[in-house]
Amino acid sequence: MQTNSTGTGSQDGMNTSQLKHLSSWFDRYVEPFLTTDEEGKKNIRLKIEHTRKVCEAMALLSSGENLPENDAHIASAVALLHDVGRFPQYRRWRTFRDSESDNHARLAIDVIRDEHVLAGIDPSEQLLIKEAIRFHNTLEPPAGIKSPTRQYVNLIRDADKLDIWRVFVELLAQPPEERATAATLGLADLTGAVSDECIAALNSGAVVRLDTAKCFNDFKLLQISWVYDLTYTTSRRILLERGYIPALAASLPERCDVREAVSKALASLSA
Ligand SMILES: [Fe+2]
Repeated sequence: MQTNSTGTGSQDGMNTSQLKHLSSWFDRYVEPFLTTDEEGKKNIRLKIEHTRKVCEAMALLSSGENLPENDAHIASAVALLHDVGRFPQYRRWRTFRDSESDNHARLAIDVIRDEHVLAGIDPSEQLLIKEAIRFHNTLEPPAGIKSPTRQYVNLIRDADKLDIWRVFVELLAQPPEERATAATLGLADLTGAVSDECIAALNSGAVVRLDTAKCFNDFKLLQISWVYDLTYTTSRRILLERGYIPALAASLPERCDVREAVSKALASLSA
């Protein structure tokens, strides 16, 4: 279904009408995934909301970093489509954990191809959008990636993180039984438990690896460690303004090594 072909020439790059088409495609695409049980609805709604908020964060980044208009349009498309793989992933496997299902970035590329989502958009811009989505969730951005692809990879990685922090901070404020189950990746909420390996990684200024996170507190450390993977000054400013790091750290166990690692992470944002 080639619903996004606007028939407009592509010499001037993406335009706002193409973006509007993409946005209405997204709304139509996600709708049927909401026809499921209550738990499923909660998890699917979480991803719809996340997508909208990543689009908002991307707009803030684009203006904060003074991106040219066409770059900002491409970045908006990346934000809108980066997680479309989450919907078939959840329907098929009932999880958002890639290691127990499939890489959701690759699934997104499949959806974009199968649904002809980018029809009518300049082929070189289609490629930029797909490449940015492909690398939005890797532990690190691939070393050899070139400009201008790198710009969009970095933008989506920052915008995505800004909203994943929001999701978790909101989740932590809810009673455990009300939390969207798939958002916690099934990690046990063991009060007081925290792994030395994750603290050491955070303390060294590295991103904590998901496969080393054994409990929910480790996952909080992992999320805090993302401060070391932000590219843009605007992202660091927004993160500080929103206070996500202190909010995540608030429910960590009272330990000197934890406190020290968290303080370092926070200090790095204003460095
Ligand atoms: Fe995302």
